[in-house]
Amino acid sequence: MATFPSDRAAWRPYGDTEIVEASPQPDVPYYRDDLALVHHLGFGFHADACAPGILRLLEPVRERGGLVVELGCGSGLLTAHLVDAGFRVVATDASDAMLNLARTHAPGTFEIRRLTLPCDPIPPAHAIVGVGHALNYLDKESQVEAALIEIANALLPGGVMAIDLCDLAWGAGRVNQPPKVWRTEDWVLMTEFSVPEPNRYVRLMATFVRQEDGTWRRDDERHDNVLIETAKVPELLAIHGVEATLSAGFGDELLPAGLVAVIGRKTG
Ligand SMILES: C[S@@+](CC[C@H](N)C(=O)[O-])C[C@H]1O[C@@H](n2cnc3c(N)ncnc32)[C@H](O)[C@@H]1O
Repeated sequence: MATFPSDRAAWRPYGDTEIVEASPQPDVPYYRDDLALVHHLGFGFHADACAPGILRLLEPVRERGGLVVELGCGSGLLTAHLVDAGFRVVATDASDAMLNLARTHAPGTFEIRRLTLPCDPIPPAHAIVGVGHALNYLDKESQVEAALIEIANALLPGGVMAIDLCDLAWGAGRVNQPPKVWRTEDWVLMTEFSVPEPNRYVRLMATFVRQEDGTWRRDDERHDNVLIETAKVPELLAIHGVEATLSAGFGDELLPAGLVAVIGRKTG
């Protein structure tokens, strides 16, 4: 019997099931088809929890009929809340698999398109939002800072930003985090965690998605998140015209320890 987590090659979703490997996609580092689907099916709770608070923060934007740009929209879980509440949303993400899911699950979105931070420009907007710490997927802290500056510059006067970011405390609280398995009838996710440096959080994930012929398709992704000292973010944003505060949530919900809500308003 394979021992999880040390013998990764021997991981199995259930007992003696037949595994087929997903086609390699070396150019797609994060959220290929199967992990995107697993995220959509099993991990919508974060966007759902954040949505009410974000909708309240954006109330002035709705009154003006303003444009909301969402970064790292994933499969459109927050997008759907925004669209249902009457916002005009440009939903963006770096993953084509996520964007394809968003096209199905967030109908009525003004535009859904690929935008990869920090290189692609963010369109000017009355609000820029994002949950699920997309900025922490960048390679270096300097890139996170560049993306924050890009957000500040893209906000129109009076515009609102609301994003979440993983702090160094995220890693500090997860040293020696035990591996975890999420198991359903249709998909299984097995994850090992590590904090190789105080500002790095690494997840090794294997997804198994049940196929129509009874086999299980396996894909493996390694997610490297850079963690930052979020206390420095308001000062950085202030230089670029955004008055920002850090908060434990966007409204009444409480984010997990180490995940910080950055809520700001463009002055001028
Ligand atoms: C944890 S998921 C959150 C998705 C969604 N917001 C949610 O809450 O369900 C992080 C998202 O960030 C996106 N992402 C990662 N790196 C990115 C980048 N460089 N630019 C834009 N999006 C990125 C991923 O594709 C993924 O959809």
